[in-house]
Amino acid sequence: MKPHAAPKSPPKSPIPTALRVLLIGGGGREHALAIALKNSKSVKALFTSHPENPGIKAIAQPMEFEFDAKNPQRISSYCERERINLVVIGPESVLDLGLVDELSGPDLAVFGPTKAGAQLETDKAFAKELMRSASIPTADGRIFQSAREAEAYIEAREEPPVVKAAGLAGGKGVVVPADKAEAFAAVRAMMVDEKFGKAGAKIILEERMKGPEVSVFALVDGHTIMTIDVCQDYKRLHDEDTGPNTGGMGAICPSPLADAKFVERVERDIIVPAIDALRREGVTYRGVLYAGLMLTHAGPKVVEFNCRFGDPEAQVLLQRFNGDLARVCYACAVGGMANLEPKDISFRDGAACTVVLASEGYPETSKTGVPIEGIEDAEAISGVTVHHACTARKNGQIVTAGGRVLSVTAYAEDAEAARAKAYEAAGKISFAGMQMRSDIGAVGVPQTK
Ligand code: AMP
Ligand code: GLY
Repeated sequence: MKPHAAPKSPPKSPIPTALRVLLIGGGGREHALAIALKNSKSVKALFTSHPENPGIKAIAQPMEFEFDAKNPQRISSYCERERINLVVIGPESVLDLGLVDELSGPDLAVFGPTKAGAQLETDKAFAKELMRSASIPTADGRIFQSAREAEAYIEAREEPPVVKAAGLAGGKGVVVPADKAEAFAAVRAMMVDEKFGKAGAKIILEERMKGPEVSVFALVDGHTIMTIDVCQDYKRLHDEDTGPNTGGMGAICPSPLADAKFVERVERDIIVPAIDALRREGVTYRGVLYAGLMLTHAGPKVVEFNCRFGDPEAQVLLQRFNGDLARVCYACAVGGMANLEPKDISFRDGAACTVVLASEGYPETSKTGVPIEGIEDAEAISGVTVHHACTARKNGQIVTAGGRVLSVTAYAEDAEAARAKAYEAAGKISFAGMQMRSDIGAVGVPQTK
């Protein structure tokens, strides 16, 4: 897609030819980012904050101490010592702690929004009010700070509203209740029992929307906005979109639901107004703006904004990327996206599909330490990358270390071939209790009913 014309000319900030990059984060998304950064011609050295991820450790130098986002001084000194000139932050939790604000300086570009910008994801009440002020299409919603008032609101409505904790709740803070009893229970769990701590002190009750969902990603440098390919995330645990919501059990890119016209509409009605509204609040937004949209009868509406790449959407997006990710991140961070060349930000034609392999018990619990077989066989298939999300190396053996364990990602000339390849590769991997959907990328897309 063409970048939007910048409202004012960005600073002339040449991108260094030799980048030394620190990648922060240790999940499947960051493994995909690590591979793309490693493959960037401009990168001379790649460091990781999370060497416990065996996939990342294989291609990046470990930081010499345990990462703690609450100790920016130590990270800053390390960057100085190692002559790191770009930090790329993957997870929202780190953005929420304001690491971008703390680390950025004349010699260090940091990719990601500031704490104020990250509020789009970390405070759903802030996001809702911002959308309202900018007339961005989203579900009607009301913000509550009292359980009693929230309950009275539910009582007075015909249909039970969706209940959302305003703060970060590890992807578990949204309840789409089947009936009013479930809605009341969700309010109590969040506001009275403090299931998510402070994140549930404020909640949003919102209209329930229906339709398929898509994930739209835009790169923003404060002035210039570039929307990249749209992905499809499969959020429910089981086939045919049944079972509990998860962080995502698979994804495809591009989405069959989004053509160029759709992207133009989303930029015009959602992305640009959101960035402008932030600017009116005094926030210069830089980094990824991820809009989770529902395609309703009345057009696309925002389900949520996130301030980072999706997981597992990053795996499929980057499997098709053949530009220079480090240059893109640097340019974004310094407000210089207009200085990028088209080859820096190019995507291959064709399609990518990723299938998540999850632990027994996910998403409620997860069994760790379970030996995993077959990763090498899967990766022997051309076009396949096995992204490590939650694995560990124990006595030379790769074992499970959390809920979403691996995402098996394939690139091919079209969606059907990518899907077939991803499943062929996933079929070579096994561990006790492994859970996997069998319909990622199948005809028909996920529907929220
Ligand atoms: P969120 O964390 O806000 O993306 O919500 C997680 C999931 O809950 C979304 O991907 C939707 O499937 C569902 N959801 C959230 N808000 C609504 C809504 N207003 N109507 C229907 N489903 C929703
Ligand atoms: N896959 C959804 C997310 O990253 O939030």
